Amino acid sequence: MTGRLVLFGLFLALIAGVLSLGSYKKVFDSNETLDLKMIAEAKKMTEAKNNPQKKVAKKEKEEPEEYKLVLDTPEMKKAHEIYHNVGQCVRCHGENGQGVPEEGGPLIAGQHDWYVIDQLRQMKTGSRNNEKMKEFIQNLSDQDFQVLATYIEKLRVR
Ligand code: HEC
Repeated sequence: MTGRLVLFGLFLALIAGVLSLGSYKKVFDSNETLDLKMIAEAKKMTEAKNNPQKKVAKKEKEEPEEYKLVLDTPEMKKAHEIYHNVGQCVRCHGENGQGVPEEGGPLIAGQHDWYVIDQLRQMKTGSRNNEKMKEFIQNLSDQDFQVLATYIEKLRVR
């Protein structure tokens, strides 16, 4: 009889144990899903804030007038052509003259035209030694330097 009672007691204890484990798991699960939900929500909020696509779209819309590069003269068109093709300036200085660190090309956007002309002349004659740029400006004329300088002064980093 006592043996049965003990067995029954053990059985009850076992059931109680299983039940409490089950409810503990439930609480744990719901906490976990709550945490995951909160993380997902926070992620969404940060994404909405920093969404690069939205930012780009917004930027394009709100780009200030002075950032727009207008190729409204033959000189500007010529400079654009040299900057992007003949002289390959874009490779080391970037589309907007923002500089390309990997190539060691510094920011040149907005630089005074007189300074740019001066540097280009010096680099061509070699009084300023620029090994990297040498070959790209060797065949450019002084007139090319002048249109490039006007162009570079108009560049703006976005
Ligand atoms: C292969 C890479 C490369 C190309 C192509 C290149 N540059 Fe450069 N440029 C450089 C580097 C590197 C420097 C800085 C090096 C130094 O000071 O010796 C520089 C410096 C300059 C500077 C002087 C900046 C300053 O603050 O003194 C000007 C202006 C410039 N480049 C304009 C141009 C133009 C215009 C072209 C196209 C005709 C051009 N570069 C093509 C790499 C390049």
